[in-house]
Amino acid sequence: MNTLVLLAHSDMENRSIANRRIITKLKAESHVEVRDLYRLYPDFDIDIEAEQRALQSADLIVLQYPIHWYNAPGLLKEWMDRVLQYGFAYGSQGDKLHGKGFMVSVTVGGPENSYQEGGDNSFPMTTFLTPLQQTAKFCGMQWQAPVISHDMVYIPGVWNEKEAVALRAENHADRLLNQIEQYRLMNAA
Ligand SMILES: Cc1cc2nc3c(=O)[nH]c(=O)nc-3n(C[C@H](O)[C@H](O)[C@H](O)COP(=O)(O)O)c2cc1C
Repeated sequence: MNTLVLLAHSDMENRSIANRRIITKLKAESHVEVRDLYRLYPDFDIDIEAEQRALQSADLIVLQYPIHWYNAPGLLKEWMDRVLQYGFAYGSQGDKLHGKGFMVSVTVGGPENSYQEGGDNSFPMTTFLTPLQQTAKFCGMQWQAPVISHDMVYIPGVWNEKEAVALRAENHADRLLNQIEQYRLMNAA
């Protein structure tokens, strides 16, 4: 039971508090493979065959990223456009992802109460994830409950304390790992 984590953060080295901590915890798990897409493909020149091989060897696929403009960072969208091809991910013979689990794990800058009708962000975060939920369905994958953490933006002196964001990231990683473990237990044997 292998878990593949596709990490999409455009500046992990200099600008990440949350995703950096989450990924460090995930990497400690022997059954988890992390592919850091921005490190692998800084010029967006995606190795489609390598990505398809990685997907095929996974039982559970996790997308890990920070929300950018209510969406995934650009390289992850490019990755979807190029890797989820006809005949591989969909179409009459495109069954290579059938039955695999698909989980989205996101860090969100805005607080949870801003993500509702009447709030600054109008809709719950799950609404912004519906294109991915439908993508999973279209490709025959099993959509899993997303792991979402709010209030993850840190702007020194303006928004949040670094330590508080770091703590929420640790908690996020624990929830994600717990959910991965549940999936593995349910799908073992
Ligand atoms: C270009 C950009 C766009 C962003 N767009 C949103 C957004 O639409 N909604 C939101 O709540 N936060 C947004 N944020 C905040 C990030 O989601 C937040 O900083 C990130 O999840 C924290 O993770 P990190 O410490 O790993 O970077 C944005 C940040 C950047 C840099």
